[in-house]
Amino acid sequence: MPQKLRIGMIGCGEIAVQTAKGIAAATSAEHVMVMDVSEPVAADLGRTYGVPHTTSVEELLANPAVDAVYIAVPHHLHAPLTLQALAAGKPVLVEKPIATTLADADAMIAAARAAGVALAVAYQAQVDPTAQRLRALIAAGAIGKVIGTRIVYRGDKPETYWSGGYSGRIRTDWRTSRAQAGGGVLIMNTVHDLNTLRFITGLEATRVYAESDTFTTPVEVEDYVAVTYRYDNGAIGTLEAGSAIRGKDPRGAVNRIYGQDGQILFSNPPQIYATAEVAGLRAGAWQEVPAAPRDREGGRAAIADGFARAVLAGEPPPVRGEDGRAALEIVVAAYRSGREHRAITLPLEEGVG
Ligand SMILES: NC(=O)c1ccc[n+]([C@@H]2O[C@H](COP(=O)([O-])OP(=O)(O)OC[C@H]3O[C@@H](n4cnc5c(N)ncnc54)[C@H](O)[C@@H]3O)[C@@H](O)[C@H]2O)c1
Repeated sequence: MPQKLRIGMIGCGEIAVQTAKGIAAATSAEHVMVMDVSEPVAADLGRTYGVPHTTSVEELLANPAVDAVYIAVPHHLHAPLTLQALAAGKPVLVEKPIATTLADADAMIAAARAAGVALAVAYQAQVDPTAQRLRALIAAGAIGKVIGTRIVYRGDKPETYWSGGYSGRIRTDWRTSRAQAGGGVLIMNTVHDLNTLRFITGLEATRVYAESDTFTTPVEVEDYVAVTYRYDNGAIGTLEAGSAIRGKDPRGAVNRIYGQDGQILFSNPPQIYATAEVAGLRAGAWQEVPAAPRDREGGRAAIADGFARAVLAGEPPPVRGEDGRAALEIVVAAYRSGREHRAITLPLEEGVG
């Protein structure tokens, strides 16, 4: 393998533009080829980074200069394109959520194992220095035993979002479709927070109860959802998310982790309160935890670098397929709970959902 991992991009839509900047800024990764079924956006990214473009995934995967691929396509296509890339022996960095069903996630994880190549998911927390610091503080006992977590997401997505995302780069309605997106604000947005809290606390969900509905937006997927879950240490998690919360209002819409001896507030920068002097913290005072740069490109470079360094070193990536599956499992259980009006116990059987 060369010193830099040569990445082929599959999907050149809205987020791919940001990731492409991240790959260009990364120290361990570089562009080699881009692909999209839409020729204009593939040509655009190819031109921007001086690499060939194609509308054929087979052509990209057959290119020996492509060491690994990054996949950023509608959710229901994550699994088939990942499986195709793994079958060609290419390590894969796939966008979140890993897939729309656990059966797909399981097939992807199994295929990566069989091929002996990496499967990674493009979540941020595991490569974010602030999240790593918070994880270390919790492991050091800074807030004591975790007793609760809270996720709040208040979005007010414009009508145009549903036909072209925030940028309108691609005209498409996949985000409105349950079959293609897998769901709404829960699987699209707060799945990030589920991954982040799982990484920082080290806790796994064991039971999930949810209510969700589509109140305001003319789409199939939910625009408001409330989830309650129990963690394996007994702690209780709550999640409240809406994509049509008029006026948004950031006041109070901040995630938190509650411990028996302290609390973490995910403001910018995050703040921590600890009752005792632990890990260099002052007792009985709110204090800032230094925050990593928040800009998307910086974050995207860290994702590309984390993946590339792991592949080049033959080590597991920072966010493994199994991590992607764990966040998805809570989402799948929540949707099932909403449909069946009952609490769902985890782990769900393999291949279900
Ligand atoms: N990590 C993040 O913060 C973040 C942010 C936004 C989106 N995303 C994820 O990125 C993915 C893409 O989202 P987006 O907003 O860029 O969507 P988008 O619709 O803007 O782009 C998707 C692209 O995939 C292309 N495509 C469709 N079918 C294809 C195929 N068979 N082969 C190749 N290309 C194909 C489309 O032409 C389009 O250009 C989703 O999984 C989304 O959840 C992640």
